[in-house]
Formats: sequence, C-alpha cells, structure tokens
Amino acid sequence: MAAPRLRALPLLLLLGASWAQTAAPRCTYTFVLPAQKFTGAVCWSGAARPAPEAVNASEVAALRMRVGQHEALLRDLQRLAAADGAVAGEVRALRKESRGLSARLGQLRAQLQHEAEPSAGPSAGAELGAEPASALALLGERVLNATAEAQRAAARFHQLDAKFQELAQLVSQQGGLIARLERLCPGGAGEQQQVPPPPLVPVVPLTLVGSTSNAGRSLDTALESPRDQTLRQQGPLASPSPAGRPASPTKPAGPWQDCAEAHQAGHRQSGVYELRLGRHVVSAWCEQQLEGGGWTVIQRRQDGSVNFFTTWQQYKVGFGRPDGEYWLGLEPVHQLTSRGDHELLVLLEDWGGRGARALYDNFSLEPESDHYRLRLGQYHGDAGDSLSWHNDKPFSTVDRDRDSYSGNCALYQRGGWWYHACAHSNLNGVWHRGGHYRSRYQDGVYWAEFRGGAYSLKKVAMLIRPARL
Ligand SMILES: *[C@@H]1O[C@H](CO)[C@@H](O)[C@H](O)[C@H]1NC(C)=O
Ligand SMILES: *[C@@H]1O[C@H](CO)[C@@H](O)[C@H](O)[C@H]1NC(C)=O
Ligand SMILES: *[C@@H]1O[C@H](CO)[C@@H](O)[C@H](O)[C@H]1NC(C)=O
Repeated sequence: MAAPRLRALPLLLLLGASWAQTAAPRCTYTFVLPAQKFTGAVCWSGAARPAPEAVNASEVAALRMRVGQHEALLRDLQRLAAADGAVAGEVRALRKESRGLSARLGQLRAQLQHEAEPSAGPSAGAELGAEPASALALLGERVLNATAEAQRAAARFHQLDAKFQELAQLVSQQGGLIARLERLCPGGAGEQQQVPPPPLVPVVPLTLVGSTSNAGRSLDTALESPRDQTLRQQGPLASPSPAGRPASPTKPAGPWQDCAEAHQAGHRQSGVYELRLGRHVVSAWCEQQLEGGGWTVIQRRQDGSVNFFTTWQQYKVGFGRPDGEYWLGLEPVHQLTSRGDHELLVLLEDWGGRGARALYDNFSLEPESDHYRLRLGQYHGDAGDSLSWHNDKPFSTVDRDRDSYSGNCALYQRGGWWYHACAHSNLNGVWHRGGHYRSRYQDGVYWAEFRGGAYSLKKVAMLIRPARL
C-alpha cells in the first residue's frame, strides 16, 4: 500500500532518475539543480542567431536566488520524507500488533463459548465474562487507533506526493531557464556567433598536423590556450610521444574509403587522412599501428581544448580537429558503418595513467531519421561494459532531447550521447582536470564501469574498423 511508496520517496528525491535503473543497481546517478557559475566554458553557441540582449548581472543573481530557494525546499522535503519513513514503520508495527490482537480476540471468543456452553456453572460464567468484555473493548480501541494512524499516514503521503510533483515541475522549469541563460551567456555568444558552423566538408590543408588552420576552429577553439596546443599529443589516446611534433607524414594520396583501405594500401603511419563519404570528403585521424591498424578515430578527448556541449547540428556534421580533440560526426559515422559490419574500440585512460579498453564486435548508427540510434554487438575487454545499456537508444543533444528521462540528460551531462535515463557512460561530457571533480551533476567524461560516474577520465577515444571476416 502506501508504505513501499513512502519509502521510495526519499530515494526518488535523492537519486532522481535512478528509478529506471533497477536492472543495474550498481550505478545510481544524481540530478541536482545546477548551481554553478556561468562562465564562458559552460556556454554553448548554437547556429547563428540574432544577437540576444546580454544577460545582466541582476538576472543571474535572481536566478541564483531561485536556485537557492529551490534547494532549501528540496532539503525540507527530504527531511519530511525521512520523517514519513519513520511513520510508515510505526504503522507497520501497529498493523502487526493489531493482527496479533485479532487472533487473540478469536481465541478468547472461542474459549468463552466453550466455557459457557457445556459446564454452564453460573459463577464461573460470570467470572470469565468480565475478563473478555474488557479485553474486547481494549482491543477494539487499539484496532481503531491503528486504523486512524494508517489513515493519517496515507493522507500525509498524498500531501508529500503532491509537493514532490510540484517541485519536480519547478526543477524542470528551472532547467529551461538555465538553458536559456546559457544561450545568452557572455563570452560564448559574441564573436563565435559570427562564425558559421563548420561545413560538411571541412577542408583540412595537407600541413594541418601542428598548424593552426581555421578549418576546424568553428567551435570554442578560442578556449584553447597556446600551452594546450603545444601539449597536444598525437595518437588515439595520445600515448606518450616524443617532445615536438612527429615528422609530418608523407601525405597519403586520398581520399580513401576509410582508414582500413589506406592501411591495406600500405599506409602504416597514423595521422590525418581524407575520407570520401558519398559526395563529401572529411578528414579523420587514422590509427595505423594500434591493434593491427586500419582504425578510424571517431571521437577523442585528451586536453579539454574543445567544447563538447553543443548542438545537434554540430554533433551531426562533426566538430573539433582531427589531430586533437574531435567528434567525427554522426552522419559520417552512420555512412561509414552502413557499408558493412564494423567493430568499435573504446580506449580509456585515467589520471594515473591506467588504461582500459572496451571492444564491441558490431557497431553501427541508424540514419538521422532514426536519430542515429546506436546498434551494438557483444562487449569484450577489461574496461567494463558501460555502453550496452545505451544499445538501441537514439542520440540526444541539449536541443534534441530523445532520452527516456523526464528531464534533459544532455543538459545535465553537458554533451550529446545515446542517453537512456541517463547514462552509464558519457565520453562527451566536460573534461574535468584531475579525475574526481566537484560538480552538482554528473557531467564529466566518464565510463562508470571503469572509474565510476564521478570520475572524469583524462584520455578517451572511440575507433571503428570494418569487422574481420
Ligand atoms: C537587467 O534586467 C532586468 C530584468 O530583465 C531589468 O529590470 C534591469 O533594468 C536590467 N538591468 C540592466 C543594468 O540592464
Ligand atoms: C488510543 O489512542 C488514545 C488517544 O490517542 C490513547 O489515549 C489510548 O491509550 C490508545 N489506546 C490504545 C489501546 O493504544
Ligand atoms: C551487426 O549489426 C547489424 C545491424 O544491427 C546486423 O545487420 C548484422 O547482422 C550484425 N552482424 C553480426 C556479425 O552480428
């Protein structure tokens, strides 16, 4: 009845979306109201839009105050919920007692009948009659008391439930408000909005490795410090490389169908290759030594130089730089993986230099009409399987919410992913330096089965290759 729901309420409050994760009790994820400084780093700029009025400080202050109020409300509600848990326990105890008492009552009644009927000694009957009568009255009162208590608890629960709904609504409204403010965020807006999104055919000059061409600069490369650029390393996971840049590889003729084709043609040097996808040519990093070579890198994080909190359009066509952090693009990956079976290799490295891998023996993305839904095969590896939970899920971004959670997972986790409700992994979150991060929500670059959801990994990469026959 009400008792199990009563007990579930505090959990709901504390764990947010974890309700949908009964199949995976190991991981629970917290969604708490975002209350964070609005800095350029958390801003995302969408497609060019008319210059909005700048956010003024008073608006932000007002928002902060509202967030504070809501947090206080949440805390109150949590306390209430805990108190109600105690009431529920009492009700249970009372109910048990009342069951015991009814049994005793039946016993007494039987005894009374037994004593009254056959022997029929008048004095004995009167003596026995007095005891059961008062016992009956007492029992009746206790049962009534217990029933009243149960009713009070139920009423209290309904009250709490209503309050919870109300609060949940507030939270979702606030999410919208924050999203709006972030769109207006200073620093993210201004200059970058003049830059059109990258074309579907990013032209990467042959000298790109190490250069600072504008080709991939469309997004937030302004955040890159020169130091980060010199630190940028090569390789899928930027395995320790000699200082300075590798000798610029002799540019392999292209464009290639994919990195595997270039590898078969004898190109054994990892680097930026041009790939032909339909009528378009895209640049991608080919990993030609690792595990047999022929890998096309479709995602890489290594230094936080690129903002992954961006729009559907960007995730569709790709962003970042093939020789650094980048996302190849959902459309290119869909096209690559629709040419035949592919495998997906996920490489992870924590801040202690510990590496792990996860291999999926089949991987493809459905077309955009199906929101680039994820199709995964069997998992193998030592990282732990944090992606199968996302199998058959559509891709969600902050502006295209297709997750199975009532809120917007991409907003909380700050990056596009095949969210469920919400995630066991998100390699497109915020690149927090140092691993364990302080954030009100789970927005790091994480793979829960490897280092947990509250640990932001240092280096990650996703690579694909045609499956071996
Ligand atoms: C800031 O915005 C509020 C409400 O939008 C407005 O009342 C106030 O005048 C604005 N302040 C400045 C300095 O623009
Ligand atoms: C029932 O409740 C009343 C008032 O709350 C109390 O005085 C009485 O002792 C209770 N009776 C039993 C049997 O617990
Ligand atoms: C891989 O997945 C695709 C799409 O789901 C499927 O058609 C294909 O048969 C799978 N291949 C293998 C070897 O399981």
